[in-house]
Amino acid sequence: MKSVLAFSALLSLAWAQDLCSQYSYYSANGYYLNNNAWGQSAGTGSQCTHVDKLLNPGVQWHAEWNWSGGDNNVKGYPYSGRELPTKKTISNIGSMQTKAEWRYLGDNIRADIAYDIFTSADPNHATSSGDYELMVWIGRMGGVQPIGSSTGTVNVAGQNWDLWIGYNGPMKVFSFVAPSAIATFESNIKPFFDHITNTQGFPASSQYLTTFQFGTEAFTGSNARFDVWYWYADIN
Ligand SMILES: *[C@@H]1O[C@H](CO)[C@@H](O)[C@H](O)[C@H]1NC(C)=O
Repeated sequence: MKSVLAFSALLSLAWAQDLCSQYSYYSANGYYLNNNAWGQSAGTGSQCTHVDKLLNPGVQWHAEWNWSGGDNNVKGYPYSGRELPTKKTISNIGSMQTKAEWRYLGDNIRADIAYDIFTSADPNHATSSGDYELMVWIGRMGGVQPIGSSTGTVNVAGQNWDLWIGYNGPMKVFSFVAPSAIATFESNIKPFFDHITNTQGFPASSQYLTTFQFGTEAFTGSNARFDVWYWYADIN
């Protein structure tokens, strides 16, 4: 018994990773984490992403950050992602089942808690953007807003969302915003794609899924701690 405990303690030590420099990255078991602070030059501060535990399946992690200045600019998107070894078009995907359990602590936090998913006609498109971006905001703090403007309420995957549509450069962005925070989110993401295919002309048969990520877009705040006790994603 003692040796089993010692062994599992050793394993969780091996898993624990502190990612504190820009884009520091860790991957294992089909998941990856990235201390992405792509917008850091818009303000002042720092951010770390900590891999707490690899689960089977899934990952437990948390991010800590302080950002000030550039109030409406995203400073970073610390996130966990699912590796996609075989690229499939959206119409060839049957389901995108996922679960996220999270909590935010901190002072004057302005951030969203969101899935960020890129698609592209080129399956080998760079993973930092795409032809289309689909976001699912399961929380937002401090009144931050998605790109574009609200087109009203839609019902997808059994609940209501405020659907925002806009452009980030040439990339068309669809953001489904929950009316109130969902601390435990368990859902299939495919119906969100079905919705934009059926109502917004999204070309599902020619767009490849290139990323499937969950994290937090940090705008401003201090002593922020974003805990993700559980995140998993399964694409079939
Ligand atoms: C945020 O600021 C607090 C107070 O100065 C500090 O203790 C903490 O280490 C900072 N965290 C990060 C990730 O920079």
